[in-house]
Amino acid sequence: MDKLEVNVSFSYGEKRILKDVSFSAKKGEFLAVVGPNGAGKSTLLKCLVGILRPSGYVRLNGLDLLSLKPKERAKYISYVPQSSFPEFAFTVEEFVELGTYATKGDVEGALRKVGMWERRNEFVTKLSGGEYQLVLIARALAQGSSVMLLDEPTSHLDINHALQIMNLLKSLKDEKILVAVMHDLNLALNYADRVIVLNKGQIQWSGKSSALTPEVLEGVYGVKAKIVDVEGQRIVVAWE
Ligand SMILES: Nc1ncnc2c1ncn2[C@@H]1O[C@H](COP(=O)(O)OP(=O)(O)OP(=O)(O)O)[C@@H](O)[C@H]1O
Ligand SMILES: [Mg+2]
Repeated sequence: MDKLEVNVSFSYGEKRILKDVSFSAKKGEFLAVVGPNGAGKSTLLKCLVGILRPSGYVRLNGLDLLSLKPKERAKYISYVPQSSFPEFAFTVEEFVELGTYATKGDVEGALRKVGMWERRNEFVTKLSGGEYQLVLIARALAQGSSVMLLDEPTSHLDINHALQIMNLLKSLKDEKILVAVMHDLNLALNYADRVIVLNKGQIQWSGKSSALTPEVLEGVYGVKAKIVDVEGQRIVVAWE
């Protein structure tokens, strides 16, 4: 059973961003990381994928991923960044191929999974923000790695595409270790198995998504909150 074990601390210069963030993740459960703006969520993913160099460790089945060269690391871990914009006019298919440079992964399969195979000959620079987001997810999927990190994977998607992507991620959870940073608490509560609440660079709460309470949300976000049941879905309502 694949297992990711994490213990990281990170500072930008003097500014301490992540303080001893420690957790593990395994196949078969979808892990969501939530928390306020500036909590350190994106920094955490960048540390896990090796874009930033934290102190501590990131181990996959005991293998220290941070000590590997980038091309080697790419065989094990893929990453969908928080909203970015395409700089180069690759076609959709060429762009997804970039994800496979280390692994000879399945470009067609990945594009079909996100519903963008028919658009493979278009330039990524001409896609909408949401379409580009789907292509970024396809690029990470095509990499075929056993760990997949996603930073706000549904932030540019309409509600229908957002639910499709959440379903896709859910369907992948037995093949991959999935860690997604999410702002949409409703999607996190209803699709993730486990939730980590990051606040000011520390884990303030973690547990099964079904155990997350309004009190936790009130403490972290500084709002009033209720979690109500709507046809079996747990929906967060928040007000000032
Ligand atoms: N390159 C940088 N240099 C200095 N400080 C930075 C840098 N990048 C991010 N930070 C700071 O690190 C902190 C955490 O940023 P991070 O992007 O990880 O937050 P986040 O939880 O992802 O927030 P959001 O929900 O807004 O995306 C913020 O205070 C931010 O200002
Ligand atoms: Mg972020």
